[in-house]
Amino acid sequence: MREAPAASVDPTLSFDPHDRRFVEDGVPFDVLARIRREQPVYRTPSGAWYLSRHADVEAALVDVDTFRAELGPITGIPAGCATIPEEQHFLSEIPEPRHGRIRRLFNAIFAWHRVRQLEPILEAECNRLVDGLFAACAAGRAPDLHGEYALSIPAFAMAHIMGLGREAVGLFMQWSMDGTMMTRPATPGVAPEGPASHVYFRARIAEQRALPEPTNHVFKVLLGAEIDGRPLSDQELTTQLHFMVQAGVHTTRSFLAHLVNRLVQDPALFARLDADREQIPLYLEESLRHDAPVQRTTRIATRDVEIGGVLIKQGETVEMGIGSANRDEAQHEAPAEFRLDRSDPRGHLAFGAGSHVCPGAMLARLEGATAVRVLLDRAKALERVPGVIYPPLPGSLGHQPVPARLVGR
Ligand code: HEM
Repeated sequence: MREAPAASVDPTLSFDPHDRRFVEDGVPFDVLARIRREQPVYRTPSGAWYLSRHADVEAALVDVDTFRAELGPITGIPAGCATIPEEQHFLSEIPEPRHGRIRRLFNAIFAWHRVRQLEPILEAECNRLVDGLFAACAAGRAPDLHGEYALSIPAFAMAHIMGLGREAVGLFMQWSMDGTMMTRPATPGVAPEGPASHVYFRARIAEQRALPEPTNHVFKVLLGAEIDGRPLSDQELTTQLHFMVQAGVHTTRSFLAHLVNRLVQDPALFARLDADREQIPLYLEESLRHDAPVQRTTRIATRDVEIGGVLIKQGETVEMGIGSANRDEAQHEAPAEFRLDRSDPRGHLAFGAGSHVCPGAMLARLEGATAVRVLLDRAKALERVPGVIYPPLPGSLGHQPVPARLVGR
């Protein structure tokens, strides 16, 4: 077994998965291709490990006993879960078997038989938003398909599922943009009562508790649950409602932004999908693979473990390189190409794997399919705005605008 290299062995091979520039400039996939070839278990500049190959990432995601999920650093708490009160642990951070018990509540909320009922409601909302895009064009302004379409749809979907009104849509959008969703009460600098989302959800929980019976399925499931012999506390409920918005809005916004960005930048693709709507699901999967909205997720090794001849020590941080795994030559033919004719379109890790696999995947797909279909139904072209430099793909969770002029049918 090889001991850990001190830092990057080859100084020309440098990759920091936390580099904020990737959000604006795009991910350096050429560097990741070298990492997969030369140092597939890569020591990052901050001393974490980065798994770059599909097989390693998938195996580690599935092995939850050896690799414990850790969202502390992305919520501004570098010391992580160990220092965060249990009531503030997001679903992913809760150890088994309790994770599985609470996860079942999420499965019930996002079950396909429920989610599919949203389709006509989402379609109506997408049409309403497209009305707004056309109105902007008519007024001589090129609307931003990211801020005025991609961002609104997941915020609307989540607010609707939670039985909340329009004010929640605006709040979820705002919290996705301003970083609120990436905090919790334990985050340094956040007031003890928590971020605005916590204050908001505590009030909704109190309202629902005051009723003879909760009026919405999400609250019915969460308030009625008994886990390990007791109901969830208000802080636990607030934490998980906040997490639903964090996990469901932020990510899907990015997914939809990638979808609309590519439609604007690739008129041939737009025409192809327009001619054959059956290809929309293939477009969604290829976007999820090629432009993974979640480029990486973090684990802590719970014991010494060897991967590919490299020793990872107990307590070390291990980044699951989903974005790289999705471009692994061993898994996908010509992985850098964006193709709709792949033999295994869902053979990517964009939604993770194992017991933490995304429970909202079908909802995200429904939102993506509806958003694309309605755009195609209403516009015969999405024209680029001259002089605008469009975001690279993937711009990950960037906030870059995607302006376009819609040409009506
Ligand atoms: C395209 C959009 C989405 C992407 C790319 C995505 C991606 C992911 C990934 C990669 C994971 C696993 C994280 C890990 O193992 O550390 C995950 C987990 C999760 N996702 Fe999604 N997600 C999306 C949409 C949604 C939606 C719409 C919801 C609905 C609320 C959602 C809720 C969750 C939850 C609650 C978890 C944690 C599951 C657990 O730990 O058991 N996601 N997602």
